[in-house]
Amino acid sequence: MNLIKARKVFNDYVSNYNINDSKIKLKIIHINRVANNSRKIAQMLKLPKEQQDLAELIGLLHDIGRFEQLRIYGTFSDKDSISHAEKGIEVLFKNNLIREFIDESNYDSIILKAIRNHSTLKIEDNLSKEELLHTKIIRDADKLDIYKVFSEERIEDGVLIGTDDISKEILSPKFFEDFKKEKLLLYSDIKTDMDFMVACLAYIYDFNFKESLQIVKEENYINKIIKRINAKDKYTREKLDEISIIAMDYINKKIKAN
Ligand SMILES: [Fe+2]
Repeated sequence: MNLIKARKVFNDYVSNYNINDSKIKLKIIHINRVANNSRKIAQMLKLPKEQQDLAELIGLLHDIGRFEQLRIYGTFSDKDSISHAEKGIEVLFKNNLIREFIDESNYDSIILKAIRNHSTLKIEDNLSKEELLHTKIIRDADKLDIYKVFSEERIEDGVLIGTDDISKEILSPKFFEDFKKEKLLLYSDIKTDMDFMVACLAYIYDFNFKESLQIVKEENYINKIIKRINAKDKYTREKLDEISIIAMDYINKKIKAN
């Protein structure tokens, strides 16, 4: 496996799209960071070098369907178009583009399954041990980048909560109650953008590896996101403070466990 070559093939592939479009630019930045996160997690898990390379490659390929999705449908919303994961699988495997990224074909099913399962609510059953391992790595690596974006950057068009300031929004009490129960929150219940942000904070319950939670802790993502939300409503502010404590307790508990 040659990651330098794979990165070059990736850059050639995206050069077919308008890389001055801010949506495309942001997606490329996201993909590169996820690839780096995937390698970092694989390193922390002390996986062999070949598996670290594979994790990075899957990170590089996981959102490759986004470019065709945007070109054809003008949106990154799967709900309003198609599954970007399935589109990515089509892009890679229909005309064998995958062979440009990696000579060996023995990892194909791992790559395919990891991409297919990277953004679903639940991981499909009956994956092999290695398919499951790499699915878990890409899901964690992707979520870590969502945290980075929400904690540090202006929220740009194409990301669900839009460019609006949400500081005046009110959190639905049900969302707080569910967060306390260590529940992964369902998007279908979302009433406000504040609910959406708390649903993202609840991703902590869906991380697969304590190594990933270690990164969440080191980067102080939870507190940074809550600070950036800057809630003005008294109830919401109090609940976000409680969420911060609950989240950090949960993370510390998970990191300490074997
Ligand atoms: Fe994705």
